[in-house]
Amino acid sequence: MADIFDKQLTAVMEHGVRMRPKPIYNALEVRDGEVFLDGQPMVMAARNDYLGLAHDPRVVRAAAEAAHRWGASSSASRLIGGSLTLHEELEARLAAFLGCEAAIVTTTGFEANLALAPLLGRGDVVFSDKANHASLIEAVRLGFADRRWYRHSDTADLERKLAAADPDAAKVIFTDGLFSMEGDLCRLPELASLARRHGARLVVDGAHDIGLLGPRGRGVGDHFGLPDAIDLHTGTLSKGFGSIGGFLAGPREVIHYLRHTSRSVIFTTSMPPASAAAALAALTVVETEPERRTRALEVARRVRDGLRGLGFDTGDSVTPIVPVITGRTDMATALWREVLAAGVLASPVSAPAVPEERSLVRLSLQATHTDEEIARILAAFAAGGRKLGLIPDAPAVPAARPAGSVTAAPGQQTSACAVMDRVS
Ligand SMILES: Cc1ncc(COP(=O)(O)O)c(C=O)c1O
Repeated sequence: MADIFDKQLTAVMEHGVRMRPKPIYNALEVRDGEVFLDGQPMVMAARNDYLGLAHDPRVVRAAAEAAHRWGASSSASRLIGGSLTLHEELEARLAAFLGCEAAIVTTTGFEANLALAPLLGRGDVVFSDKANHASLIEAVRLGFADRRWYRHSDTADLERKLAAADPDAAKVIFTDGLFSMEGDLCRLPELASLARRHGARLVVDGAHDIGLLGPRGRGVGDHFGLPDAIDLHTGTLSKGFGSIGGFLAGPREVIHYLRHTSRSVIFTTSMPPASAAAALAALTVVETEPERRTRALEVARRVRDGLRGLGFDTGDSVTPIVPVITGRTDMATALWREVLAAGVLASPVSAPAVPEERSLVRLSLQATHTDEEIARILAAFAAGGRKLGLIPDAPAVPAARPAGSVTAAPGQQTSACAVMDRVS
């Protein structure tokens, strides 16, 4: 008789996902662009702190003061004693920021997406991009609606699937706003028009774009000049906002319904006070310092252009998530090791986070990266790429920027691995 532990562990070992994270040490003088790993200083390009707010003194002070005043934990869930005025203030501020009637904050962004499940009833149909984040995929699996997975950003495939569905069924489309592995944007104008034509609601996970994209930092809707195209927003406070926590924002009745039916809202301890206070302070910075968005996008553009000029494939990225696509997983691991040895901490990404043949090394760039750090990143990739034969020895002719590239001008607009090492 099979033992359930042995069976699952064997399956995992066969797929080679024996990874363990390596701990990171911050420098004593904490600077968010640099960390220490095994005693060596590293350019940190594996975090999602796009605006450099996790170490901003105003954000850190707000967190520390809130911890002193409110304690280290709220110690209860929202409906039974864990609702603080800080949570309500953050909900009101986020709703106003996104131009929505109401918002709920959750303890993580993952939970914000899980909280969508009660929208998906029997007989309804949910259409979900195949490259959506794991937490959106889990929400689809948790719900009772019929599921249709459309090819990544393939609006023709989505249209076929919408047309084939029961015209009377209630329908919803789920998409990431900015896809977290390859840094490409969803095709919001086409998605919005398909949603309208087929009577579907559009739900966008703005985990990576809210705070970063659009003239006011409101995410892809703001970036495309379509503020009303999104029916319901989900997002996280752990990336552009330098804290931790998640949120949903949309029509008042919908938020009220989810607040009282979503298990990931009801049955978990609410967001810690320090995190809520940090997010509030970060939101003020997002609202008042658009130059941070400009700088984050400029850093990303320079790194992306530099990598393309060297001959690397950076896919359709137009954002601070820059993938260096190697194709083969062993090449992604080898390149990651080379750049790590040269003092750059990036993330190796392989299946199931991306399709098998699109393994990559992911760079997450931020407003606080210095020009010198940009140069170190490019030098590390140049040396590693040449050593592994991934790029030509002589510099290639600089490649043209892809259409739709996000720059400062038109609008300031599961990773498989963090810092991982093979166990064996
Ligand atoms: C697109 C997307 N959605 C949701 C999440 C979950 O956010 P959190 O880390 O706050 O749980 C992530 C984080 O990795 C993400 O990339």
